Amino acid sequence: MSWTPRLRGAQPVYLALATSIADDIQAGRLAPGDRLPPQRDLADALGVTVTTVTRGYAEAARRGLVSGEVGRGTYIRQPAFAPAHRHRDAGLLDLSVNTVLPHAHAREISAHIAASASRGDAERLLNYQPCTGQSEHRAAGVVWLAAAGLACEADEIIVTAGAQHALAVTLMALAVPGDVVLAESLTYPGMTSLASHLHLEMRGVAIDQHGIVPDALDAAARRSGARVVYAMPSIQNPTGTVMPRARRQALVDVVTRLDLTLIEDDTYGFLVPGLTPLAAAIPDRTVYVASLSKSLAPGLRLGFLRAPSRWINRLTGALYATMITATPLMATAAAEMIGDGTAARVLQWKRQEIRARQRIARRIFKTDPARAVAMSPHIWIELGAKWAADDLATELRRRGILITPAREFAVVRRDAPEAVRICLGAAPDRQVLERALKIVAETIASGPRALGRAI
Ligand SMILES: Cc1ncc(COP(=O)(O)O)c(C=O)c1O
Repeated sequence: MSWTPRLRGAQPVYLALATSIADDIQAGRLAPGDRLPPQRDLADALGVTVTTVTRGYAEAARRGLVSGEVGRGTYIRQPAFAPAHRHRDAGLLDLSVNTVLPHAHAREISAHIAASASRGDAERLLNYQPCTGQSEHRAAGVVWLAAAGLACEADEIIVTAGAQHALAVTLMALAVPGDVVLAESLTYPGMTSLASHLHLEMRGVAIDQHGIVPDALDAAARRSGARVVYAMPSIQNPTGTVMPRARRQALVDVVTRLDLTLIEDDTYGFLVPGLTPLAAAIPDRTVYVASLSKSLAPGLRLGFLRAPSRWINRLTGALYATMITATPLMATAAAEMIGDGTAARVLQWKRQEIRARQRIARRIFKTDPARAVAMSPHIWIELGAKWAADDLATELRRRGILITPAREFAVVRRDAPEAVRICLGAAPDRQVLERALKIVAETIASGPRALGRAI
């Protein structure tokens, strides 16, 4: 590209170069994914040494503005993801939010919270509690994780304010600015956003219908020197894939061989019971993250993190730095719901509801059953050459439906496939979902030509 920096002020040239990159991103003259000029070319153009340009690019990387790899160039980074639903528009059906609201059990859950509040020891509920959670809360975590196939001790558990908080705590404790975090090439945007805020660099690893490709992970880890890998083996967000046993073992082998730390996000794992988390095979090198958001309700803001004992102190420090402790009232209510079987009932209802909604989606989209994941709360639709994903999302918004184009999930946006994610759990009921999916299917089938545009 033919970008030239404007070097201002009395500061050293390398700092002025980094500032110029920041200014031009702010002004829109540089966009995410743009490649900066090769260092030697820029040094010649500016009449400075290559070392000065190298230092300038390194300073820009330190400020979280660019990412680069030796021999591959320096690129402008993605800005931190800002979720669209923060500005939710009235009147639109939002199938972009990945939630499965417990409609049939909503009253029961709120009654539980109210009962916990009135029955419990008010002083205790309203006071600060131990950072990692009261012992009953962590004991409930042990029960919850055991149901997910992971045996652990209460002192390996930290109660968090949901999975997003658990991920934040983990990255704060185990990574330092500039570190590379490897992830599936299409990944959960909350993770990308977090990495960006913490000045970490995400690199995407190839995925296929079984999830992350072990050889690609091996190559990416060796090339980048990354120590941390983030993955969602059980219902990947956004593709919905579930890693079969053989792939899990292959991934465990790579993580062990290369001495990596695995962050296993099992937010959706409750929908595919019977699969053992990777953390069970490599507990000493895995931070396992579970959440009650999808399984019970996101408003609880509650999750459990399980880590090897040697990391608990560091993780507790990060937890203290972020919110001191999860909310005692919610943790108490959740622990009681886990203990008295309410949570298990809600979970059962959700599994049935998702299965029913998947059946509707399959009927409408005629998905190949071998590839479709019967228990995923979201579907991933590859559009082929017919539609650009962003155009489809814009057109559907015009027709009153919000979905998410692949770009939002791509670690490298310019590599995003033409595909979209649709969240089945977000519609208030199956009838509304069916109507909305029919509109999506008709819009896809009619193609952009129907809008009077050239393909
Ligand atoms: C894969 C994944 N991890 C974490 C989260 C955040 O969940 P929580 O509400 O528990 O913070 C989400 C939410 O959509 C998610 O999809």
